[in-house]
Amino acid sequence: MSTTKLWGGRFAGKTHPLMEEFGRSLQSDQRLLFCDLQVCRAHLQMLSECGAVKPEVSERLVNTIDQLVAELNRGAVQVSGDHEDIHSWVEAELRQRAGDEASLIRLGRSRNDLVVTDFRLWTRQAVQRLREAVRGLQAVLLQRAEEQAGVYLPGYTHLQRAQPVTLSHHLLAHFWSLQRDHQRLEQCAQSADCCPLGAGALAGSSWDIQPQRTAELLGFSRCFDNSLDAVSDRDFAVELLSALSLCMIHLSRMSEELILWSAPEFGFATFDDAWSTGSSLMPQKKNPDPAELIRGRSGRVIGHLQSLLVTLKGLPLAYNRDLQEDKPPVFEAVEMTEKCLLVMTGVMASLRFEAAQMARACEDPGLLATDLADHLVRAGHPFSMAHELAGKWVAGRLDQAELALVRPLAEQLSAESVLMARRHPGAAGPESVQIQLDKARRSLQ
Ligand code: ARG
Repeated sequence: MSTTKLWGGRFAGKTHPLMEEFGRSLQSDQRLLFCDLQVCRAHLQMLSECGAVKPEVSERLVNTIDQLVAELNRGAVQVSGDHEDIHSWVEAELRQRAGDEASLIRLGRSRNDLVVTDFRLWTRQAVQRLREAVRGLQAVLLQRAEEQAGVYLPGYTHLQRAQPVTLSHHLLAHFWSLQRDHQRLEQCAQSADCCPLGAGALAGSSWDIQPQRTAELLGFSRCFDNSLDAVSDRDFAVELLSALSLCMIHLSRMSEELILWSAPEFGFATFDDAWSTGSSLMPQKKNPDPAELIRGRSGRVIGHLQSLLVTLKGLPLAYNRDLQEDKPPVFEAVEMTEKCLLVMTGVMASLRFEAAQMARACEDPGLLATDLADHLVRAGHPFSMAHELAGKWVAGRLDQAELALVRPLAEQLSAESVLMARRHPGAAGPESVQIQLDKARRSLQ
């Protein structure tokens, strides 16, 4: 297909080839292809309804679009050529099929409102896929938490053994962080749910168009209040990158833990062969690569948030070409986060928990020290003294009289008894975890 610019008229001279290449975004923004066609279709329909385009012309062009969509779907046509961006490719393709009449799709709109309309539609679809991926990982965490009832391990603070926790409780902690990610993504979908089409280049259109109608045809629940804001606003993209950054931080922290747990020094978990890799030199190695890659990619997603914020920072109203740089970070962050969620789901579903090793690590008497202090308080001692005695007990520094006081209480304690005593809502004990599991299950319905 021949390459036609959408803006040749004013220019007598030719664009420098390096400038052509420098400005081209087709490689990246072809992801917007189907959204762009959907927007063109809705726009034509609205133009015909408000009398700006004859109904028979609009119908012909809509049919041409539908045919193009069908051909794209069965792979009979592909995006190619040296077009500036996907909007230029679409128009060139429609013109080739329907003649110059096709350029009517440009009436009453500009690429400035078009590109952000496409981008918002794309974002809404992406958020839907991401939410499903989050749900997939939550479902696996919940299932593993249900099947691991009765398993306990040391909980850590400062990466030092602190108090025993049930494995189910630990896994559910990650479930709830993902629950917040899911909610944040819902909020992102709402922010993207506003149609800017009709804002034109910056000031709206002299045609009597109905932006509300285009919004409705595209399934948006709102349309813009101010044309300048409509073409400038990228808050929805920043919000999405921020939500994705947090989600990646959650995945990265989960990864860090799995990396530690799978090291022989901990020995709490073993990666399935399907989700680990070896070393080209050291035959004995089995490395937790998926977790390390997720931890690594979280840095890139966070970088994309930074990149968009800095791009936006100095921009005056309204459209500035800098805004072309808004999409690659979002595309990459979305694709990366979705992949990381799927990989973590595979890892978690197949991970072997080493319950015996976890129980062995719980034999550390230090894990019982807090509860020993609690028992001393119950026996009538002030908390400060109870804390001191329990500390000395752990360090083996009690004298005979103190030992006589503390030992009978200490002998009653075990990781199990300490866990059974944690019964209040939200605590790590098995009884309250049962309630938590029910709540988690309901939140997935
Ligand atoms: N490729 C451009 C972008 O992604 C589309 C809008 C171009 N508008 C313009 N006036 N050059 O932002």
